[in-house]
Amino acid sequence: MSTDDTTQQPTEQQQQSQDAAPTTQESKQDESQQQQQQPPKESLLTKLDAALHDSEKKPAETFSFNADIVQLMSLIINAVYTNKDIFIRELISNASDAIDKIRYLSLTDASVLNSEKELKIEIIPNKNNKTITFRDTGIGMTKEDLVNNLGTIARSGTKQFIDAIAAGADISMIGQFGVGFYSSYLVSEKVIVRSKHNDDVQHIWESTAGATFVVREDNENPYQLTRGTEITLLLKDDCLDYLDEKKIKDIVNKHSQFVAFPINLLTIKETDKEVEAEDDEDEDDKDKKVEVSDEDKDKKKKEKKKEKVTSEEWELLNKQKPIWTRKPEEVTKEEYGAFYKAISNDWKII
Ligand SMILES: Nc1ncnc2c1ncn2[C@@H]1O[C@H](COP(=O)(O)OP(=O)(O)OP(=O)(O)O)[C@@H](O)[C@H]1O
Ligand SMILES: [Mg+2]
Repeated sequence: MSTDDTTQQPTEQQQQSQDAAPTTQESKQDESQQQQQQPPKESLLTKLDAALHDSEKKPAETFSFNADIVQLMSLIINAVYTNKDIFIRELISNASDAIDKIRYLSLTDASVLNSEKELKIEIIPNKNNKTITFRDTGIGMTKEDLVNNLGTIARSGTKQFIDAIAAGADISMIGQFGVGFYSSYLVSEKVIVRSKHNDDVQHIWESTAGATFVVREDNENPYQLTRGTEITLLLKDDCLDYLDEKKIKDIVNKHSQFVAFPINLLTIKETDKEVEAEDDEDEDDKDKKVEVSDEDKDKKKKEKKKEKVTSEEWELLNKQKPIWTRKPEEVTKEEYGAFYKAISNDWKII
């Protein structure tokens, strides 16, 4: 059964799906707003924020995490570990796997892509609410998938990873144990997963780790995904540097440059725009009966002032041509190393 949303107004739906770059929005900013880098009104950031609050209206069902997963999360949360960057690699790798799955299904049934044709990954940092969001248009998760895959069914790797850490292994090896998702708790106070699978309505999964997580239906929220998964991390106060565009770009470049689908970063651009200065003094001039020469009037009219405007723009991060299409002599040793790590999941080799 396909439950593509039919309750949405087409325009809203179009805006929410954000197929391509969001239309550039601009808004006035006062000084205090500038410091906080407020997103433009009606922006994608504003909508995502509203959606998070809106989804809290539905009744939640609480589930207990599998005991091994509780132990794993506690280990991750309390890790005294300085290189937390790997969570980005893990979430992008999950997004890429999910897109691969829907693409594979589409080989035998092209209609699975009707809900969303574009296969892409998006990263959306939001300095105002301290969140970083990873979105994909992959296969998505049904309610059952959310419950099973993100909490109640532990893989063999869960226990193996706990034992490996106890034996001195490095947390960055998490991707080899099939529990990469939980690396989000290296940097997050709370993780919110919103997902839309072709066979189910949209659901939302939330947890601050601990012993339980909750799942709610999320199909009345005006914000509906077309298909895929959106993972929002509410960052810990000492991890806010992951909201920095440059830092995100560097990490993606280092760990995820060979991902086969486009990875787009939502950036906030601030530019000076020239606007006609408002002529407030006209009325006063009249009252005071001050004579203003025609020349002065012309000058006044032409006066322009600069105003700061912000706009949201997508920036493609993995621009590099695939390594196998380049001339072998042009590929550096470091690039070969990075490529090997990307395909082998062997992160021990520097
Ligand atoms: N973005 C996503 N879209 C769809 N399913 C997802 C997504 N992220 C996670 N999942 C589901 O959650 C499961 C657990 O993810 P996790 O990263 O912990 O392990 P894995 O991806 O299976 O293994 P590994 O990380 O070693 O490749 C995945 O197998 C998948 O079923
Ligand atoms: Mg994974």
